[in-house]
Amino acid sequence: MKNTFVITIDGPSSSGKSTIAKLVAAHYKYTYIDSGSIYRAITFLANENKLLNSKEINVNFLINLLENNSISFFNNSKNQNIITLNDVDIEDEIRTSIISNHVSRVAQIDRIRNYVFEIQKKISKDKSIVMDGRDIGSVVFPDADVKFYIDASLKVRAKRRWNDLIVNEKNISLNDVTNDLFNRDKIDVNRKISPLVVPHDSIKINTDNFTIDQVVHKMIKLIDKKIKK
Ligand code: CDP
Repeated sequence: MKNTFVITIDGPSSSGKSTIAKLVAAHYKYTYIDSGSIYRAITFLANENKLLNSKEINVNFLINLLENNSISFFNNSKNQNIITLNDVDIEDEIRTSIISNHVSRVAQIDRIRNYVFEIQKKISKDKSIVMDGRDIGSVVFPDADVKFYIDASLKVRAKRRWNDLIVNEKNISLNDVTNDLFNRDKIDVNRKISPLVVPHDSIKINTDNFTIDQVVHKMIKLIDKKIKK
């Protein structure tokens, strides 16, 4: 039997992927890796350096910034991977709406995707992992042991995201959040490199009418069947 396993979870924004991925990883004691947080950290760095204000992002400048700053994960006492910029925890800073509004622009740049690919491979080496994102089962780990595609309608996803954001951003409207998700989906699905697709061989689950626990339970049953073969 193999020693390490890779489970991939792809899907659009706010489909429930990350909550589900964390629970699945905890169940198997695998490492959870949030690939979106790497794109968000890069977008945060770009924003700190005023690169998001112009129509075209200055890619050379951004790559140069990445060479001179360090984005990495810190594994805390609860076995959670915390994203850091120059060893400072930026988990909260990368979840604001300004970063959400720009992250898909940054994530469509091929040199940025290559940079992230290297981090994804390095952090997963010799480990059993659950990684979520947009291209994990299709491009990053095409040979993963079990692949899922988690989906939900735009209406349900927007409501979920709005409920999360309203805690810290009192003025944000459901309409703004719906528009952000719609625009991000459009960029993620239509970009030339590593677009969001339902990976070949993946198990598709729509979470509109299920609780997180129901979805996780279903996934664990499916994973058990596949990895205990
Ligand atoms: O949490 P949410 O679903 O809103 O998004 P995320 O997973 O934090 O990812 C933020 C953005 O990063 C996505 O909208 C994509 O544009 C990009 N991304 C990507 O292109 N490929 C990945 N594997 C993960 C994220």
